[in-house]
Amino acid sequence: MYEQFTIPGRVAVVEHDGAQFLSVKNQLAEAEICLAGAHVTKFRPAGQEELLWMSPLSGYGVGKKIRGGVPVCWPWFSKNTENPDLPMHGFIRTMLWQLDSVKELPDGSTDAVLSIRDSEESRALWNHKFQLLLTVNIGSALTLKLKTVNTDDQPFTIGQALHTYFRVGDIAAVSIDGFDGKSCLNKVGDDFTQRGPIVIDKEVDEVFHDVPDGAVIHDASLKRDIVITKGNSRTSVVWNPWIAKSKSMADFPDDGYLTMVCVETTNALEDVRVVQPGETLEMTTAYALR
Ligand code: BG6
Repeated sequence: MYEQFTIPGRVAVVEHDGAQFLSVKNQLAEAEICLAGAHVTKFRPAGQEELLWMSPLSGYGVGKKIRGGVPVCWPWFSKNTENPDLPMHGFIRTMLWQLDSVKELPDGSTDAVLSIRDSEESRALWNHKFQLLLTVNIGSALTLKLKTVNTDDQPFTIGQALHTYFRVGDIAAVSIDGFDGKSCLNKVGDDFTQRGPIVIDKEVDEVFHDVPDGAVIHDASLKRDIVITKGNSRTSVVWNPWIAKSKSMADFPDDGYLTMVCVETTNALEDVRVVQPGETLEMTTAYALR
């Protein structure tokens, strides 16, 4: 059913772990995207090691949250403020997306476009008409553009996150720049203003305000920096579940917190956006190794 996207040796839809994935290889990188959730699960620039952290205990496929990679959280981030019984981080991360196109570009990178529209199932959770498109560019960087189209006749408000899990060598050897002087809503302690780089030595679940620019994850253990850039996002989330929360999550290894950190490009808290009928809204982020 996806044969029209195949480019022998480079692009194919493959099946494993009970789910379908778009597999992309080019001279610059290789990647996999699970069609359930439009969820990037692998990205490896040529000659380098994997950028993303994936839980070996993760489930895959329609109806399952994938633990690791790049969860797409939409149309709300975290708990739904009006109804906390609705799914955490919205509902499209567990739904089947459509694969719209795969295109090899002159610069050697590959663009894949996936989309999802409202359905009876989505309207039962959130009664709005929409189209959501994710463009994934697989090049020397991994670039993601998440575009919301309001196809309804009423405005709607969205929160969103590209909730990326980065692979690190040893969390004790990690520091994160880009948050100096920024205040945060701390979900696991008192709110505070960050001074200097972030280091992680306990559970961290922080939503930073007023962060229009990206961040850099310095990883002294793997001897690499992950450079995060972003557009149309004024909030960022830093998350590491640490010991007790790791143990409480069935799909997360007990020691998983030692080799991952989430740094998320978001529209959260005061940064939620109103999208008028017929309008589009695009949030972008990109990740490169150096
Ligand atoms: C983070 C939240 O963004 O996502 C955390 O701030 C949450 O509170 C984490 O635990 C993981 O969420 P989930 O739904 O994927 O388990």
